[in-house]
Amino acid sequence: MTLALEINGLSKRFGSHQVLDDFSLDVERGEIVGLLGPNGCGKSTVLNIVCQLLPADAGRIQLLGTPIGQFGAKARSILGLCSQNSALYGDLLPEENLDFFARLYGMAPAIRRARINELMDDFGLWPHALTRVGRLSGGWQQRLHLAVSMVNRPDVLILDEPTAAIDASARVDLWHLIERLRESGTTILLTTHQLSEAQHLCNRIAVMQNGRVIAQGTVPELLARVKGQAIVNIESHERPAVMQRAMNLGWLAFNGSGELSFLLSQQSDLRAVVSALEGIEVTSVSIKDVTLEDAYFELLREHL
Ligand SMILES: Nc1ncnc2c1ncn2[C@@H]1O[C@H](COP(=O)(O)OP(=O)(O)O)[C@@H](O)[C@H]1O
Ligand SMILES: [Mg+2]
Repeated sequence: MTLALEINGLSKRFGSHQVLDDFSLDVERGEIVGLLGPNGCGKSTVLNIVCQLLPADAGRIQLLGTPIGQFGAKARSILGLCSQNSALYGDLLPEENLDFFARLYGMAPAIRRARINELMDDFGLWPHALTRVGRLSGGWQQRLHLAVSMVNRPDVLILDEPTAAIDASARVDLWHLIERLRESGTTILLTTHQLSEAQHLCNRIAVMQNGRVIAQGTVPELLARVKGQAIVNIESHERPAVMQRAMNLGWLAFNGSGELSFLLSQQSDLRAVVSALEGIEVTSVSIKDVTLEDAYFELLREHL
């Protein structure tokens, strides 16, 4: 089956700053792929190039198996974009915003009206039909923004940090909406810097650093990149003694959340860990499974 999106060897420089350097990523049809990476690593630049808002210095993009340049203006009917900056008109009502974008796509009046009704239904916007968009909460504005990006029924939807700066419950609502879009056959490439979001929503995750993808895979595949089974966090005033003991035990120092974090190559339980530390004064010991967050930070550290 042809890929929804095939990005190959993308590079982009702003002045002397090489933002993208041989960036490649495939997105299969019907999946949600999350592009994850620290602020400023080039996520939006990738999306803007894919949506042809920005030219690349080099690289090749295929959309549904065809070089994207060959679509011309028709690319607009295949790709939808929900950019990081809202495109909405705050003085207008939700339906008026939808109508504005439907006109941009050149929809005939009757089709336009039907599509607007459908989007107002699908995105649950009717309760706010009479509220000017500028007065809607961030979560509702983002819902409308998502609806706007679906006006043209795109096959491939690009979402740039769709849930940044909205509260936790609105975020979960948006996740449901995004999942529904996938279920109805839309392929989605999104960026986020929230690991929980990537873990919840995405079939595959690509981790980006220094302008390229440094790792990609499903959550279990990324977890498997961490060469360990469990992480031990210790608090102690006898730091050098803990370090020495850990070394003797073959525990690897780990760049984790705690002050003294170690990666264990085997599953272990708290009792065994505590007894391994016998003779050293510790104030706290905990043991946990490797999480996506651990894997993410480990991957970034490896590639520094
Ligand atoms: N139009 C531009 N001109 C100059 N520098 C830019 C421009 N757009 C983005 N950058 C720089 O490129 C880098 C990547 O930006 P961006 O793609 O927005 O990162 P992200 O979305 O991952 O936070 C940043 O250092 C940013 O300052
Ligand atoms: Mg960005």
